[in-house]
Amino acid sequence: MINIGPLSFPDNSVWAAPMAGISDKACRIINKEFGCALVFTEMVNDKGLLYGQQRTLALLNLEGEKGPVAVQIFGREPEQLGQAALIAENNGAALIDINCGCPTPKIVKNGAGAALMLEPRRCREIFRTVVKAVKIPVTVKMRSGWSEENSDKCVEIAGAAEQEGVAAVIIHPRSREQFFAGKADWEKVKAVKQRVSIPVIGNGDIDSGETARFRLETSGCDGIMIGRAYLGNPFIFQEINGFLQNNEKIAPAPWTKRLETAAKHLKLACLFKGEEVAVKEMRKHISWYCKGMPGAAKKRVEINKAQTQAQMLECLHSAFV
Ligand SMILES: Cc1cc2nc3c(=O)[nH]c(=O)nc-3n(C[C@H](O)[C@H](O)[C@H](O)COP(=O)(O)O)c2cc1C
Repeated sequence: MINIGPLSFPDNSVWAAPMAGISDKACRIINKEFGCALVFTEMVNDKGLLYGQQRTLALLNLEGEKGPVAVQIFGREPEQLGQAALIAENNGAALIDINCGCPTPKIVKNGAGAALMLEPRRCREIFRTVVKAVKIPVTVKMRSGWSEENSDKCVEIAGAAEQEGVAAVIIHPRSREQFFAGKADWEKVKAVKQRVSIPVIGNGDIDSGETARFRLETSGCDGIMIGRAYLGNPFIFQEINGFLQNNEKIAPAPWTKRLETAAKHLKLACLFKGEEVAVKEMRKHISWYCKGMPGAAKKRVEINKAQTQAQMLECLHSAFV
């Protein structure tokens, strides 16, 4: 079992990564439906929560979701992060995850996200303050380091996290400078696992049951997290679970199932965000769902023209025939 405070997950659990602009309520519900053990919100700005900004608070709407939802927060001031964590806890978060991995210039220029990998002392203070601020467990998601030269920083910072009462760490073993280029260096996940006794979740480039098993076995990590491979493909969770648990190779979901799931995703998004916003945001999701489908390029053009839920659903239905 992977024990994270009062929460427990089976060994080799598969989690869905936090993804800004993607892992919203509709996406989380769909991912859960296909068997991922834990879902995360998009990263949430600590200051936005403290100032009561409606757009930021909307990210904390977890109402009606089955099972635990982790809220990921980002910032750099320990006290503010602690207060933001408390707001998230009061909104129903099952755990708080601290973002030490976001590479985007807008975030790191303010010293947050992956920039924290350059400041182990500040990290320690953040971990201590956030752990004290809430009763629910706290996890930290981090990159390996800032640059190639300090890409062992994750080992030191994970050690500090454990000492300060953090319940688990999630390692995406690329440096900030790598962004998403090159390969994730899973030796770093192994090094963190050897250093700490809290659960270690590995993340980076997993896209099949085979890669999941290989990474679990070779790094020794307790569970894995999937990001890009779930885009338009929530079926990946059942595929990986089937492979890890029963050695069963589940056939890829047929197109009818993919389109049906895309339609459900669209309906949920419209329900939670309103039709106008949801239709725009769903264009990217639907084009991911249709990736590789015969006639996908033409379909994409049609979908991008759709202005209403009904038009988008019509596009999806007409793809069946
Ligand atoms: C579009 C996009 C948005 C992301 N947003 C977040 C985020 O909000 N918080 C976070 O910790 N990581 C974020 N990530 C990183 C992913 O959570 C994950 O660590 C990374 O994609 C590596 O995993 P993968 O190879 O399975 O995709 C994002 C990645 C992408 C591509």
